Amino acid sequence: MHIRAKTDSDAAACLDLLMRVHAADGYPLHTAPDRVAAYLAEGDEVAAWVAEHDGRVVGHVALHCPPADPTFEVVERATGLPAAKLALVARLFTAPELRRSGVGRTLLRHTAAQAPMLGRRAVLDVGQTLHSAVALYEAEGWSRVGELRLPLAPDSTLDLWVYMSPAPPSS
Ligand SMILES: CC(C)(COP(=O)(O)OP(=O)(O)OC[C@H]1O[C@@H](n2cnc3c(N)ncnc32)[C@H](O)[C@@H]1OP(=O)(O)O)[C@@H](O)C(=O)NCCC(=O)NCCS
Repeated sequence: MHIRAKTDSDAAACLDLLMRVHAADGYPLHTAPDRVAAYLAEGDEVAAWVAEHDGRVVGHVALHCPPADPTFEVVERATGLPAAKLALVARLFTAPELRRSGVGRTLLRHTAAQAPMLGRRAVLDVGQTLHSAVALYEAEGWSRVGELRLPLAPDSTLDLWVYMSPAPPSS
């Protein structure tokens, strides 16, 4: 398995994979199947990578740098770091048949290591019901810095944990 930058020609394979993840895990949360493609495409993506195994895309992750974001606000309240110093790890998913073989960890470490090169610290939000993802972030030493409740129609919320990456090694 190796990690490489995502290219335009990976679009169909990434969407196929995310459709399978959606069926298996319900991620992205509260998203109808016909909205999954839009979810993958939206956001202020500055870079994205795929994991490839035997010539197949088996994982995906992106780094987003929006000018402002509710997740950044949670991090800023907790740590004082402003949006301009933060980057969101987003759209992390791996092939259901290859789980627990290190693909997610490799993608997460790769992405978190890119953020300091942009002068930023990697942060993320995760649905509180996505137990595998929460276990991965905790196992990788990410710190839970707060909680976010995004309103959903009409009487419910999307409840998220907000995590910050471990401090990068000082040079
Ligand atoms: C979360 C996800 C990306 C993890 O991918 P993965 O390739 O299975 O992760 P890894 O094999 O690298 O796991 C690394 C470590 O994370 C932890 N972990 C991952 N899944 C776990 C699970 N189901 N239960 C307990 N710990 C788990 C373990 O510590 C694991 O190490 P170990 O297998 O040596 O014990 C994958 O489950 C996924 O795509 N889930 C659906 C999409 C999703 O929730 N994305 C996150 C959005 S914020």
